[in-house]
Amino acid sequence: MAKPKTAYVCNECGAEHSQWQGQCSACNAWNTLTRISLGAARTPAAAQQSRRSGYAGTTSAAVQTLAAINLEELPRIVTGIGELDRVLGGGLVPGSVVLIGGNPGAGKSTLLLQLMCQLSLQLKAMYVTGEESLQQVGMRARRLGLPSEQLLMLAETNVAEITAAAEQQQPKLLVIDSIQVMHSAEVASAPGSVSQVRECAAWLIQYAKQTGTAMLFVGHVTKDGTLAGPKVLEHMIDCFLMLDGDDNRYRTLRGHKNRFGAVNELGIFAMTEAGLREVKNPSAIFLARTDEIAAGSLVTVLWEGTRPLLVEIQALVDSSQLGNPRRIAVGLDHNRMAMLLAVLHRHGGLFMADQDVFVNVVGGVKVSETSADLALLLAIVSSFRDRVLPRELVVFGEVGLAGEIRPVPSGQERLQEAAKHGFTRAIVPKANAPRQPIAGMQVVAVSKLSEALAAL
Ligand code: TYD
Ligand code: MG
Repeated sequence: MAKPKTAYVCNECGAEHSQWQGQCSACNAWNTLTRISLGAARTPAAAQQSRRSGYAGTTSAAVQTLAAINLEELPRIVTGIGELDRVLGGGLVPGSVVLIGGNPGAGKSTLLLQLMCQLSLQLKAMYVTGEESLQQVGMRARRLGLPSEQLLMLAETNVAEITAAAEQQQPKLLVIDSIQVMHSAEVASAPGSVSQVRECAAWLIQYAKQTGTAMLFVGHVTKDGTLAGPKVLEHMIDCFLMLDGDDNRYRTLRGHKNRFGAVNELGIFAMTEAGLREVKNPSAIFLARTDEIAAGSLVTVLWEGTRPLLVEIQALVDSSQLGNPRRIAVGLDHNRMAMLLAVLHRHGGLFMADQDVFVNVVGGVKVSETSADLALLLAIVSSFRDRVLPRELVVFGEVGLAGEIRPVPSGQERLQEAAKHGFTRAIVPKANAPRQPIAGMQVVAVSKLSEALAAL
């Protein structure tokens, strides 16, 4: 009898190694290799073979030119949840596989249950739960008041059984909650192990592609990534969305990979006692400012995908007792803040080497663009000098190393959004100054940091 084959798979990138090593040579992550058993007679190639014999009987490889391909677009399945549709790029594509990742408790099951109950009224939908019992899901649906008559439910973790049930029922939409608990009898390792997750995902994806079923996988991510996380799946699926924010009421849904749309879109939900609710006007929430504003608080306009988002930045500068003063940034890039403090010293003449600097973006928003630079600097200056900035002031712009203020995309739209929310004064980069004046908005255009400081 042949000896069982073993391999070592990296939990981070999914690379396979023949020997154990402390560091994965493919992605350089430490301590991420797990030993997997490939079984006596089974190799990945054999597994693929058996999958093919399962579903690929009818297709034969035909070569054709790019131009000859039928480009008639399949109509997308509009989910009816506007924030989700936008992140997906306009709805679900039939035959596509979407992975929704997030920490346990983020609300993945809740979101998908709401989605599936609504969609089951229009098309055939099946929800496979591997983690919760049917009763648990049923009780949640009842508590949330969701329409439950049409949704097909299955409590199963064996992928062969799932595809068999799906072949019988022919759903247009299938949810797998979650991909980590799925297992296949053909793989001789524990459910949740990298090889199981990979095999099961490959099996289900093959089914989706050949039957045109849209699939949604739930994937758990742990902080240290010890579980076979979505990383190994990322190259197999079409879209990867992350549901973030477990410590506050708001959840953000962001695309990390999308074969059918842009990845910079952001969807915002609120977790309420009636499930997840869309947040249609996010600026209004992140801007809930108290009557009394303190020094160091300033509002900026971010650009999230296709829409502006007003957020408040707070800074606190305090004389330090430490030889090495603290620099702490929450929601902003730490290195960028250090760089901006250096610019402030060299080009603004403000010395802060003996001060602790803390900055925070209100509402748990993560800023990933440079347009918040100027607002961050001015918030720091405001706290340093203990001078409250006007409540109706909004600031955006990128700051360069030479102390120049650089333009950012969509300046006009950002200003309009700010005007809509009652802001009447703005400090913006010169190139972003509006050609036509915006009603009720007094704009100061600056090209150097010194001008912005003078404008304060
Ligand atoms: P869940 O969808 O089970 O999370 P996941 O599937 O991502 O692990 O959501 C669980 C959390 O959501 C739980 O902490 C409670 C909260 N929640 C509400 O606040 N309101 C609700 O109506 C529901 C259903 C859940
Ligand atoms: Mg869940």
